[in-house]
Amino acid sequence: MLSTIYEPIQEDLVKVEDRLRSVGEVDFPWLSKLLDYSLGDGGKRIRPALVLLSGKFYNYDLSYLLPMATSVEVLHTATLVHDDAIDNSLVRRGHPTINKVWGEDKAILLGDYLLAKSEELVADTQNLRVIKLFAQTIMAISSGELNQAFSAFNLEQTRQQYLQRISGKTACLLCLATESGAILSQAPGKSVEALKGYGYNLGIAFQIADDILDFVGTEAEMGKPVGSDLAQGTLTLPAILLLERYPEDNPVRRLFQNEDKQKNIELALELVRNSSIIQECYAVASDYCARACQNLNLLPDNASRRSLIKLADYVVSRRK
Ligand code: IPE
Ligand code: IPE
Ligand code: MG
Ligand code: MG
Repeated sequence: MLSTIYEPIQEDLVKVEDRLRSVGEVDFPWLSKLLDYSLGDGGKRIRPALVLLSGKFYNYDLSYLLPMATSVEVLHTATLVHDDAIDNSLVRRGHPTINKVWGEDKAILLGDYLLAKSEELVADTQNLRVIKLFAQTIMAISSGELNQAFSAFNLEQTRQQYLQRISGKTACLLCLATESGAILSQAPGKSVEALKGYGYNLGIAFQIADDILDFVGTEAEMGKPVGSDLAQGTLTLPAILLLERYPEDNPVRRLFQNEDKQKNIELALELVRNSSIIQECYAVASDYCARACQNLNLLPDNASRRSLIKLADYVVSRRK
């Protein structure tokens, strides 16, 4: 359960919620509505939780950690709003997406606003190192998403290329959360590296789990459509393993070559679900979680460290 994992920082996460709410307090009612809608409840808040938990090992100073925690969630929201517009996704966190309700043009502009807001918030950390890391993370996410767009419907993709993509589009942000939490609490260099390594490996495992759930999850639990990666031509780990297993005759191959889309998606989903591929993907994800946790050995033992270990378990057992 996430609420147990968040225990050491529970009160401060409430403060993050308050700050997210105040992002919506602007003079323009239409903008206010969009901000409240996109930043409101329903997200797991993993990234702000990572900032705060990572800040708990040395000098836990909320005057810097709170803007940082808020900033990563606002940035995450910006990427989701843009991602849904790009993917033409209709449901997010159990509600119709911004692009669905207000149109793609509003989603692009709202995403831009949120991006700029996240930058304003990170400036409140007054830490140039963190501000630079923040900008580099936005570049990494954009590169990852661009990489995905350019490789859509391309069958010649290796596991290595998949890992590179998810490292950019997802792992970098979790890594920013843990690394900035460490830096802003004046952690010594080795501890910063350890928390950075934890966040990065956790991020890879997190996206692998998301990609698995796109095959075996349900929309009711996930709050977003499942089975959409294949339809968009995104080759994720389960699909790559399926292609490795059946290199010649394969529904993914046929789908990507534009043959009978719906039928081949269903065939691919069925083949993956009835094979050991899902277990294999979970084994890969668990391996990244183990690597994440190895990094924590270097840190002082406290409630936050125990939470970070539990969070790694959660990432590969989650249904949403
Ligand atoms: C969704 O992230 C986007 C991915 C990186 C897979 P989350 O699963 O953390 O989304 P919310 O914030 O809980 O809705
Ligand atoms: C999310 O990847 C990555 C970013 C938002 C940058 P996905 O496309 O897998 O996320 P979902 O499944 O739509 O949440
Ligand atoms: Mg998407
Ligand atoms: Mg996904």
